Amino acid sequence: MPPKKKALDFHWLYEASVQNVDTDLDFALRIYSKHWKCKPLSIREDFCGTAKLACRWVQRNKKHQAWGIDFHQPTLDWGMKYNLSELSDEQKNRVHLICGDVLDAKTAKVDMALALNFSFCVFKQRETLRNYFKAVKKALNPKGIFVMDIYGGTESVMAKNDDVREIPGFTTPDGMKISDFNYIWEQAEYNPINHHTTCHIHFKVPGFGNINKAFTYDWRLWTLPEIQEILIEAGFSKAEVYLHDFDDDGDSDEIFRLRKTYENTQGWVAYVVGVK
Ligand SMILES: C[S@@+](CC[C@H](N)C(=O)[O-])C[C@H]1O[C@@H](n2cnc3c(N)ncnc32)[C@H](O)[C@@H]1O
Repeated sequence: MPPKKKALDFHWLYEASVQNVDTDLDFALRIYSKHWKCKPLSIREDFCGTAKLACRWVQRNKKHQAWGIDFHQPTLDWGMKYNLSELSDEQKNRVHLICGDVLDAKTAKVDMALALNFSFCVFKQRETLRNYFKAVKKALNPKGIFVMDIYGGTESVMAKNDDVREIPGFTTPDGMKISDFNYIWEQAEYNPINHHTTCHIHFKVPGFGNINKAFTYDWRLWTLPEIQEILIEAGFSKAEVYLHDFDDDGDSDEIFRLRKTYENTQGWVAYVVGVK
């Protein structure tokens, strides 16, 4: 019998296609320093999943501390096996993972909280989202900021909306070679009455074929004005929106500037910042 092919672990594909933790941390650092004229030392990564961002934070400076919260223990376990294992023992001691709900998990007070890749959209009721924002505010030091991201644009409200990107290949730490592959974001359903949406991530990986519905999200797509209003209702002193421009190919230039107005384009990703 030929040797059995090793199963492909979707978390590798997710981290390679979706996450850019250095871009997120650079942005958060810039905005924190702009507001508070000093450098943050501690972060809380909400909906941390594999805790990639928390791990990167403690690698950057020996004074950095990170808390990560996720209620899915198997994903935290994966993060411990593959992301925390990349850290020295001293760095590992500065990452604190909590298996719990972001609505009520207790952490030490931190300078920055981050909730990325639209994860807060899991909360579909305004009151629940406000309670979540209040919990984040309570977990922040007096000089604190809360950074999240959200997508939108005229195409984001189309019932069927696929976004395909080619992602460079890589080799996993256990030696599995993954060639350049396709990441497909499918917005399968969108209800204009309540903005509830179902989205899937699919991958097309040479040698492994089509991996359908590797990840599925059942969300409410919140709008920028709603998020800003709810941040203020939760007690944040400011709610700011940072948006990118577009390069000549129509792609994001990845430079996020504070905006009060913006062209109604087909698609954008914004950072929203709550200032304590
Ligand atoms: C979209 S993934 C985000 C992963 C990663 N942090 C990122 O930025 O790409 C969402 C994660 O949120 C977790 N999650 C969803 N609702 C949660 C809640 N109420 N409390 C804690 N974790 C939650 C899920 O288990 C999942 O790992």
